[in-house]
Amino acid sequence: MAQILITGGAGSIGSSLAKALLQIESHHVTVVDNLLTGNIENLPLDDPNFTFIKCDVNDFNEISSVMTAHTFDYVFHYAAVVGVERTLQHPSMVLDDITGIRNVLNLCKNTGVKRVFYSSSSEVYGEPVEIPQYEDTTPLNARLPYAIVKNVGEAYCRTYQEEFNLPYTIFRFFNTYGPHQSEDFVVPIFLEKALAGKDIPVIGDGSQTRTFCYIDDNVDTAIAALKNPQTENQTMNIGNNTAITIKQLAELIIRISGSTSKIIYLPERKRGDMKRRLPDISKMRTVLDRDLIPLEEGLMRMIEARKGVRKEATVAQI
Ligand SMILES: NC(=O)c1ccc[n+]([C@@H]2O[C@H](COP(=O)([O-])OP(=O)(O)OC[C@H]3O[C@@H](n4cnc5c(N)ncnc54)[C@H](O)[C@@H]3O)[C@@H](O)[C@H]2O)c1
Repeated sequence: MAQILITGGAGSIGSSLAKALLQIESHHVTVVDNLLTGNIENLPLDDPNFTFIKCDVNDFNEISSVMTAHTFDYVFHYAAVVGVERTLQHPSMVLDDITGIRNVLNLCKNTGVKRVFYSSSSEVYGEPVEIPQYEDTTPLNARLPYAIVKNVGEAYCRTYQEEFNLPYTIFRFFNTYGPHQSEDFVVPIFLEKALAGKDIPVIGDGSQTRTFCYIDDNVDTAIAALKNPQTENQTMNIGNNTAITIKQLAELIIRISGSTSKIIYLPERKRGDMKRRLPDISKMRTVLDRDLIPLEEGLMRMIEARKGVRKEATVAQI
């Protein structure tokens, strides 16, 4: 049985990965998380092959006690301070994540981990110099602390492979949405407002384009990469390559949720809002052997999941 550690595993992507690994494979999954933005209710706590340990990866004593007490075969390092507003308002907290990256990679190197999977971000490309963005040739234009930290994390992975022979796979996640996403992200914010019939706040004129990757596409690619030795020591964009403007996203959410909400426009952000983002996903397609989930279908799944949560809450109140 493979022993897998997911840091930041109580978060949206990590908890979905944990559940998928437990369903498809005979794995033991351990999640560590400091619950900064994660939610313990996302986790399969009743599964006998699952362990949760509250732990801050930036604290060496805490994470080393976990990683030396177990022998992990694979580590997914997903813990990070996230959310555009939070990362802009707390840049020094973001920079502290470099300590966590170093802690996790040192412990991987010293405890015989077979491969580390690191969640980098489309943010490393910064304001794009070309579209689409290719993993190995598009220049990295990262300027803000969150993007710089992701870039440093990538450098750690490549360096530890070259110097200490620790295999890695770097995932550059582009906007990923799904039912357990916190309201730090645009899709859950718009969806909640639409379902409540409240104004939907678009920043700027809404002409900035994004792509939206449904959580299952992200998780299935990560699991396919785990199984595929050719992804070792590779950097992969993980995202969807259908671009949509933020205004169109708001309109789509209003339409499919049958909402009466209106779109309102807020002043542009001074920093941190790229005009365009679009991944080249040829590498992702070589490991994920199916079509991607279209945005409209992913949004419908989120609406269904949210209705379920609301129904449960209403029953609990009675
Ligand atoms: N969701 C996206 O669109 C997206 C895009 C690009 C990159 N990413 C990256 O993917 C990873 C997962 O993001 P997510 O969307 O699931 O966000 P999330 O906030 O749901 O998950 C991050 C998790 O890390 C935990 N965490 C933060 N600091 C920690 C620390 N010091 N020690 C232990 N746990 C800590 C949080 O409590 C949370 O559970 C992150 O590294 C993020 O930067 C996400």
